[in-house]
Formats: sequence, structure tokens, C-alpha cells
Amino acid sequence: MMRTHNCGELRASDVGRQVKLAGWLQHRRDFGGVLFIVLRDRYGEVQITFRPENKELFDLAYTLRGQDVIGVFGTVVMRPQDARNPKMPTGEIEVVAEKLEIYSRSEVPPFPIEDEITATEETRLRYRYLDLRRAPMQRNFLIRHRAAMATREFLNGEDFLEIETPYLVRSTPEGARDFLVPSRNFIGKFYALPQSPQLYKQLFMVAGMDRYFSLARCFRDEDLRADRQPEFTQIDIEMSFVEPNDVMDIAERLTAFIMFKVAGYSLRLPLQKMFYDEALRRFGTDKPDLRIPLEISDITKIVPDCGFGVFENAAKTGVVRVLPVPNIADKMSRKKIEQLTKLAQEWGAKGLATAKFTENGFESGVAKFWSDSFKEKLAEKLGKLLLPNTMLFFGADSPALVSKVLGGLRTMLAEEFDIGDRTEHSALFIVDFPMFEPNEDTPNGITPSHHPFTMPIEEDIPLLDSNPLSARANAYDLVLDGYEIAGGSIRIHKPDLQRKIFNLLGISDEDAQKKFGFLLEAFKYGVPPHGGIAYGFDRLVMVLTGSKSIRDVIAFPKTTAAQSLMDGSPSEITKEQLKELGIVITERN
Ligand code: AMO
Ligand code: AMP
Repeated sequence: MMRTHNCGELRASDVGRQVKLAGWLQHRRDFGGVLFIVLRDRYGEVQITFRPENKELFDLAYTLRGQDVIGVFGTVVMRPQDARNPKMPTGEIEVVAEKLEIYSRSEVPPFPIEDEITATEETRLRYRYLDLRRAPMQRNFLIRHRAAMATREFLNGEDFLEIETPYLVRSTPEGARDFLVPSRNFIGKFYALPQSPQLYKQLFMVAGMDRYFSLARCFRDEDLRADRQPEFTQIDIEMSFVEPNDVMDIAERLTAFIMFKVAGYSLRLPLQKMFYDEALRRFGTDKPDLRIPLEISDITKIVPDCGFGVFENAAKTGVVRVLPVPNIADKMSRKKIEQLTKLAQEWGAKGLATAKFTENGFESGVAKFWSDSFKEKLAEKLGKLLLPNTMLFFGADSPALVSKVLGGLRTMLAEEFDIGDRTEHSALFIVDFPMFEPNEDTPNGITPSHHPFTMPIEEDIPLLDSNPLSARANAYDLVLDGYEIAGGSIRIHKPDLQRKIFNLLGISDEDAQKKFGFLLEAFKYGVPPHGGIAYGFDRLVMVLTGSKSIRDVIAFPKTTAAQSLMDGSPSEITKEQLKELGIVITERN
């Protein structure tokens, strides 16, 4: 037996016991002829003492360095009163070593294996196995594991079957670009890695599986951002004979179950459901963090004749909205405002009008242009939101752009000035997403907001012909602390409606047949009405662990350039491999 206990479990009640421990040398301290080391493993840390009486043992121990892997046999003793460490769970005792075995010596690691480190992320990713050895990372993966187990436990209890879907699939456009895998047996043909199990889980419903889930890896060759990875994990769910509320009911109870199991947090149910339009109007985003007590007000109706041309003009074709932020007007120097204006311009705005509200009323910024009657109307409109020392930010443009700018400022300023209680969680559903969004790169100028298999809201079906951009979808997102952690929809289960959607998107019958033929064919043989949802599991774990980056909860993540610094992928392959696949590299960038 290599160990009788782990490094985190010995207590005062174990005093007198002979134990065998194994782990990594975390610290070593030479204390006037006595050598103390801290031995560490996943479970904790324990102090080992080498006394000089046993010279051979002591001399061997003296050669130990940080991160050496050793085994120790010894006796648990009480530490002297003044040497006890109440911060360490094993801090009352130590183990007096009688035997030492050195399993593996470590070179000096490229960065210290400590909770707090200053190493760059590049170095951490390059030596990921060392980064993962650090206690905060081990904690993240413990939480990730518990979240996965809780998911299985909950969904199993709700009659879901866990079934795997294939990773080598037909290339079917779903939004992002596919990662492709060449076929050796069929030169010139390719598999794709699935962007999600979407079509396969719908086929499970056709197959009568009724309730399916899996922890599925998804692959998307898209530009990466802080909370995106080219491969990520979904808790993927699909259900037959359901309406949106049935799916949201499962999703909110699953979320609450995970949060309780993992963090002991009690999420209050049912979750709020907010219309997409309302979220955008009030918070400037479809993933609002409701812990931030800041809200945007629409003032389009009161700006005609306000005296300020920018507002008056914008109101004719677009909207004028204001974001009041209390308690920060005195911190808004000219320079700070210039900086925020630049940011707004980077987001596409023509400018960022501001004003302050103080004991003297509205002042500075664009307030000098305003008529008295407008000031009165604005004060009335904002009511209790107008406390002295409030900073006002105005957006005057199309609704989408104003939402982007004021919504962006709302989150940014809340972060900067620590507005809102981050010890709580904010969870809600956003519902009634638009079916489509404008996209100039597509044949008909529109793309699905969710995916092309999403059912429109029944009463909006006539809009598909007259004004598709205003049709709403039977789609919902789950937003946790300002992150979109899950998204889903009711699916189209009638071939003619599905064909109609394809046509609207500029996908001809022939193309649809080519790309999704297997789905359309399946739909000929009896399809239950169905719907589902998929969680970004990594994002969920990111929120649960309080991590700033999705990379901190993925064991071997890619950089923002989609590289793995540890194994060096993507990498070149041999001429033989290329030849076997019938591939000739024509160009390198
Ligand atoms: P969607 O594309 O919205 O829906 O994805 C579902 C959830 O997955 C997470 N997510 C990501 N996480 C990390 N990196 C990425 N690149 C990434 N992209 C998405 C998000 C998102 O909410 N098949 C549908 C689901 C359905 O309709 O049931 C789908 O994949 O948290
Ligand atoms: P201008 O009249 O262009 O000098 O702008 C006066 C103020 O209004 C400046 O603070 C601009 O940043 C701001 N501004 C200009 N256009 C817009 C707009 N579309 N939305 C919000 N503020 C704007």
C-alpha cells in the first residue's frame, strides 16, 4: 500500500497513528536543524518533520526540492501549542518521518505552484499540467465534476436517457463554420465535427426516445472571445410533446439543482421570464445581469423641441434613450468622458451625449442646449432615479445601436464602480427572440437568430411572408449573472414549414435536400412535436466557480488564436498522411 491517508485528512484524533503518505513537496523549511516540509495532494496539505537524530534519513530529506514526489512513513504527533496553524485543516498535527521514498524528482518548475501566481496565461497554458496542479484549479475541476454529476442525477430522475451522438457527422451549416475531417476511404469527401448535436437529438425524438440528454462536445470554427472556445461542452437536452414552459421548467429546476448541489445556493423558482424586446429596451442586452440596479429609459417621445438638434433629429427615425448612473457624476472628469465617448464610437455610435444631475439640477455636457420645458419633462420621466450626483448617458440612434452602447456602458460602469451585489446570483429566461436577424453576408440578407429548425410563434407565421424580421421565435435563453448559459427552442416538426424557413433563408429545396435531406426524410415518418435546450456547460461552471475566463474551467483549452500551447496543435502532418488523404497544400498563411 503506498498510502494509508491522503494529505488533507489527518486530525488531532489521529495522534499516535503510524501513517503512510504520498504527494508533492510544496514547501520546505530548515528550522535550526529540523527540516519541515509541507506535503500536498488533491485533498490538502500536511506538515512532515525530519529530525536530525536519524542522520541518514535527514540527509536524504535535505536533498528534497519543491514538487518532488515522495512517500513518507511516520507517526502523527501533536504540534507544540505555538506551532499550530488554525488556517490549515491538518494544522494541529504533524507527521514525524521515519522512512522516506523519493518517487520522482522535479526540475524547478517554470512558475511557482501556488494559489496566487503572476505567470502569464501563455506560460500557464504551455505547462497546463502544472497549472492544473494548483489548488484553485483543482477546486474548479472538482466543481465541474460535481456539476456534471448533479446534471446526470437530476435528469436521470426526470426520465431522461443519456445517449451519445456522433462526432464525425455530415457538414450541415448551423451558424458557425465547421471543423472538417478528411476521409481516407473516400478521397475528396469530408466529415464535419458537429457544432452541436442539434439534428441528431431531433432524430432521437423521431425515434421515440422521448427525453434525451448528453454532455456533448461541440466544435465551432469561429472567432473566439473571452467566453468562447472552438470546442466546448453542452448539457444537451431534447424533449417530445412539450411547450416552451415544459422545457423551461426542466431547465430552471436543473439549474437550481446544480447550484444547490455544487454551491449550496438556493435559487428561487420560478425564474422570471422577460421578453427579448423588453430586455433590450431596459438593459440594452439580451443577457442582462439584474444584480446591476441600473436601467435605461426611453425618452424619444419627450425630445421633440428639446432644443438639442442631435436628439430632435434622432427621434424622427430612431430612438433617444438615457442611462442614469447614480453616485458617479463627481468622478466623471472631462478626460473620463472623452474616454467613454471613444469607446461608444468604437461600438458604432456617432457620439455619447452626457449631462450631470446635481443639487443645481441638470448641468454640464449637453444640458446647456436643453429647453427648460424639456428639463422638466426629463426630471418627471426619470423621477426617483434622479438623485444628486447622477451621471446621465444618452444614446440617439437606431434602437439596436443605442442598446449596444448604453447596455455596454451599463455593464462596464457597474464593474468599474462596483455597482450591484455580486454575492447573489441573477437568473432569468429571455423569451420571444426574433426569428431572424439581418445579415448582409447571406443570400436573402437574413440569418436565423437561433437556428433554422426553430419554430416561429404561431401568431407570427403570417409575418414570415410580409415582414420576416419582425416575426418572433419560440425560443428562449437562460441568463445567469449576465452570461447566456443556455439557449433552446421549440422545433419545427412539419416539413412544409421547415421548407418555407429554408427558402426564406435563401436555401433552395435542392440545397435543403442536399444538406438536411436526412432530417427532412425522417420527418415523413411521424414526428412528435418537440423542443429542447442546450447549456454552455463551461460557461455555467465559469459562473459557479467565479472564474473570469472560460479557460479556467476547461482542462486543456485553446488560446484566442485557437491553438493549444501545450501539445502544439494545430500542427503540420507528414507528407504520407496528406497523400493518403489525397490532400495537396496549395497555400500557407
Ligand atoms: P447555442 O448555439 O445557443 O444552441 O448553444 C447553446 C449554449 O452553448 C454555449 N456556447 C458556447 N460556449 C462556449 N464556447 C462557444 N463557442 C459557445 N457557443 C455556444 C452558450 C449557449 O447558450 N443546438 C442548440 C441548442 C438547442 O436549440 O437546443 C445550440 O447549440 O452558453
Ligand atoms: P455634436 O453636436 O456632434 O458636437 O454633438 C454634441 C454632443 O452629442 C457630443 O457630446 C456628442 O458626443 C453627442 N452625440 C452626437 N451624436 C450623438 C448620438 N447619435 N447619440 C448620442 N450622443 C451623440
